[in-house]
Amino acid sequence: MGLAGRCYYECCRTRLGHQAMGMASLGLRRIGLRRSFHMPLDALALEHEAVQGLMELWPRIHWSSGDGMMPPEQLLTLYRLAVSWPVDGATVELGAWVGLTTSYLATACRVRGRGKVYAVDTFEGTMEGDSVYPSASRYGGRTLSAFEAQIRRAGVEDQVEPLVGFTDAVGASYDLEPIRFLLIDADHSYEGVRRDFEVWSPHVAEGGLIVFHDYDMKGVARYVDHLLRSDSRYVMSPGPVVENVFAVTKTEVEA
Ligand SMILES: C[S@@+](CC[C@H](N)C(=O)[O-])C[C@H]1O[C@@H](n2cnc3c(N)ncnc32)[C@H](O)[C@@H]1O
Repeated sequence: MGLAGRCYYECCRTRLGHQAMGMASLGLRRIGLRRSFHMPLDALALEHEAVQGLMELWPRIHWSSGDGMMPPEQLLTLYRLAVSWPVDGATVELGAWVGLTTSYLATACRVRGRGKVYAVDTFEGTMEGDSVYPSASRYGGRTLSAFEAQIRRAGVEDQVEPLVGFTDAVGASYDLEPIRFLLIDADHSYEGVRRDFEVWSPHVAEGGLIVFHDYDMKGVARYVDHLLRSDSRYVMSPGPVVENVFAVTKTEVEA
């Protein structure tokens, strides 16, 4: 995202900023300069209905005291990938925390009339090596209520279903629609990413997208690099991928 896009996003995160942008938009439309107002979002290369989805989402979630672990440019990258990925099926997020990323993914799926978003998590703030995120204590050690509240605030409760449990156990019994979009953002150790990939990738439809978050973490990068070297069915996805969000496509070519 360019500087203009980032400024625009930061402005719209606050109630006052959002109102100011609304008034500016009205004024610019009156004097026939609306196009220049759209420029920052055009820079994100999103179509009108995808932008509209975001404009409805932001006031709902960013004016509240919502929590999340992903910075704006990465959320927008995910949104853009989820909106534009042309394959049908379910969207699955491994590691949902309190639902910020889930809200973006679900809005993208709603905008495009895609299937459900399944959010898989222990909802206990599980971290690598059985430790827990210190911030989970803010939620009394159980993040499911905060997750559900966030999903309601985002207005996507019909689009989202939490699947509670360890990602490998949930993946082993997954029998829902084939997956069009899989986000792996749970246990970031090499073993954790390997396990998640091995359990979940068979459920991914051909042409589906698998997104690894936190590619800057050693375990994630080591596994992704190993995967690309050793299995020719998976190819690095071209397109709008920012540092830390790494996407591969499942192709039909046998390894
Ligand atoms: C980095 S946070 C996810 C952040 C979220 N995607 C966001 O950007 O807001 C990791 C989440 O994965 C969950 N998690 C970690 N290891 C897990 C496992 N093996 N099974 C299920 N959930 C796990 C944690 O409970 C935590 O909520």
